[in-house]
This record gives sequence, C-alpha cells and structure tokens, in this order.
Amino acid sequence: MDLQSKAFENGTVPAMEVAGLTVKFPMRGGVFGKVQSYFTAVDNVSFSLEQGKILSVVGESGCGKSTLVKSLVGLVPMAAGEYRLFGEKVVNGKVAAVGPGMPQKSCRVSDLVQMIFQDPFSSLNPRQTVEEILTAPLVARGVTVDAASARARELLERVSIPVEALQKFPHEFSGGQRQRLCIARSLMVKPKILLCDEVTSALDVSVQAQILHLLDDLRVELGISILFISHDMQVVRALSDDVLVMYFGHIVERGAADQVLVNPQHEYTQKLLASVPTIRR
Ligand SMILES: Nc1ncnc2c1ncn2[C@@H]1O[C@H](COP(=O)(O)OP(=O)(O)OP(=O)(O)O)[C@@H](O)[C@H]1O
Ligand SMILES: [Mg+2]
Repeated sequence: MDLQSKAFENGTVPAMEVAGLTVKFPMRGGVFGKVQSYFTAVDNVSFSLEQGKILSVVGESGCGKSTLVKSLVGLVPMAAGEYRLFGEKVVNGKVAAVGPGMPQKSCRVSDLVQMIFQDPFSSLNPRQTVEEILTAPLVARGVTVDAASARARELLERVSIPVEALQKFPHEFSGGQRQRLCIARSLMVKPKILLCDEVTSALDVSVQAQILHLLDDLRVELGISILFISHDMQVVRALSDDVLVMYFGHIVERGAADQVLVNPQHEYTQKLLASVPTIRR
C-alpha cells in the first residue's frame, strides 16, 4: 500500500504536521554580493492540519504566510524544522512509507501536496493548451497520454469547464475560469492536501464565492485537507475549522476559527481584526 492509500485509511493521523519550521533568506551586500546576514521570514512555527479540515493562516502583509506555504512544497528551503505528512517524516522532498506492514515505497511531497497560487494569469503557461497543462504532471509520472487526458476531462467537468477547453490556450479564459483550471491541474495527481495562497484575491467578487464553494465541495468529496491563506476575515471565518495568526514570522495565536476571530486573546489579533474595514452608512 502506498502513502496515498494509507492517507485515507487512517483518519486519525494529521495530514500535515510541522514543528519548529524556520525559513531564512540570505541578505547580500557589498561589491561582491556576499551574504552578510540572514532574515528570518518564518520563525519556529509549529502546527498540525487535521485530515479533511481547513486551517487558515492570517496576518498582515509580509508576516511570512506565503514563505511558510512555499517551504512546504520545496519552493524555498527550510532552515530548520520537522515536517511530517500522514505521520511520515519528509526528507529531501520525499516521504518514505516504511511503516509497519507497508512495503518500502517512497513518494514525493508533490504527490500528496499541491499549491494553488494567487495569480491564475501567471500560473498557467500561455504557450500550452489546457490539455498539455493538465496532463503534464501525470505524463511526467509515467502515466500514458490517453489515461492522463481521460482524467483531465473528468476534472474539467468537476470544475465546471466544458471539455472543448482542452484545445484552448489560457488567454481564452476569464480569471475565474483560469483559477478553476489551476484547481483542476492541482487535482490531477490526486493530492491529499491543497495549499491555497490568496486564491481569490485576483478575482472579481462575483466569482470569488464560486471558487471558495468549489474548494469546500472538493474538501468534502475527496477528503482533502486545505491550508488556506487569505486577508478576507469573513471568508476565513466562514470556511475554516482552525486559524493560525502570524506576526513577523511567528504564530502568536491559534484555535478554532469562531474562537480566534470572534474572541481574540492576543493583542495583535485584536488589532488585526479591528483594522478590517467595515462599511458604515
Ligand atoms: N525570496 C526572498 N528573498 C528575501 N526575502 C524574501 C523573499 N521572499 C519573501 N521575503 C521576505 O519575507 C517576508 C515574508 O514574505 P511573504 O511573502 O511570506 O509575506 P506574506 O505574509 O505572504 O505577505 P502578503 O500578505 O503580502 O502576501 C517579507 O519581509 C519578504 O520581504
Ligand atoms: Mg503572500
């Protein structure tokens, strides 16, 4: 049994666990651009994302939310910390499924965790057709083109895009449709965890709700767990089970969404919520 099947079998193990995660960026200077110091963008962060749940990360711009999720898919290196997926330790971007009674089969983090970005315009290669974009992750894993195309059709239907889209290019779609294509692409490898970084911020308000409903439906249907980043506190409250509040790279408060967003304990969370603009008449 591989780790992807194991993930479904044991619902009690957290989908993702992170302990002491730290990300540092080198600060270069001088004539030769030497590293002079390090800036700690994510500092000793620990959390766990339960299976089938939505955990949101909130905090002001620059507090390290994107850096945190990028480090979870290997887009930026972790300086320290322990990272586990379904109880298995991640080492060099791989999880070794060597638990009791399991054959030694490792899988890549990208087989289990997929990321969806803020900007659906730059996330899709403008020179590739939708079919090429969607099938590429499976073909790269050795799946036949026919089987990959069949799955692409299935997923287009799931994200409510007509199958004729397969032969089109990204510029032929609206922002909301492109984000649906990005969601379909992320689902091609049957991931168990989605990292959603401001996935609706670049979209018109009218399509934001559709994308959020789609994500929540997918969570229920496929048992996917979601790490969700948003500046929109109303969305976070409506969608999330739990919330982490980040401030200068640290987690300053955590708990159930209703608790943290309605009755915040930490001074920073109180200020963050007070800064949310409201429309007064
Ligand atoms: N590649 C990089 N090199 C150096 N510093 C970086 C790099 N990427 C991010 N940073 C810095 O790390 C800090 C955290 O950035 P990050 O993008 O994670 O913030 P964020 O919470 O996602 O902000 P926003 O809400 O605006 O998206 C910022 O101070 C940023 O300038
Ligand atoms: Mg960000």
